[in-house]
Amino acid sequence: MAEQLTLPPTDDREALYTALLPQVEALVAGESDPVANMANVAAALRVTFGFFWVGFYRVVGEELVLGPFQGPLACTRIGFGRGVCGQAWNERRTLVVPDVEKFPGHIACSSASRSEIVVPVFNRFDPRQVVAVLDIDSDRVNDFSERDREGLERILERIGEKLQHENK
Ligand code: SME
Repeated sequence: MAEQLTLPPTDDREALYTALLPQVEALVAGESDPVANMANVAAALRVTFGFFWVGFYRVVGEELVLGPFQGPLACTRIGFGRGVCGQAWNERRTLVVPDVEKFPGHIACSSASRSEIVVPVFNRFDPRQVVAVLDIDSDRVNDFSERDREGLERILERIGEKLQHENK
């Protein structure tokens, strides 16, 4: 697969999500290793949208543990129900936080983070179970909308199985 993304010259997020989806699918299609795939998906999202921080936390026992990411250093472990990530895991749904300072319990890995979206990755064999979350932080307040939720959920629906081991 090509190791470069081809993107339209626009800031329109809908157009970018549309262009990105088949390229992300191609990016992970030939690779079975979930860490490699998480790494490239995080990079693709950061390159496409210029987000401040993009990465995955994996469910390991009772905690989320930091996985592949792009951006500044981040906290490594987050408990169930803690912060935006732990809450998205608990509620098993995407959370959009327009202003992190107004989210009770938000975990500030970086003081530059202003808004955040967290999208769960569901177990390929049991869709009620969360196996990881995709966390994206912006340095701008109110940077995420329905468009981002739809675009990111669609990507993870299509390639979620490539972000987890094939046999569990
Ligand atoms: N802000 C997140 C923690 C992870 S960092 O932003 C990378 C949270 O509240 O869960």
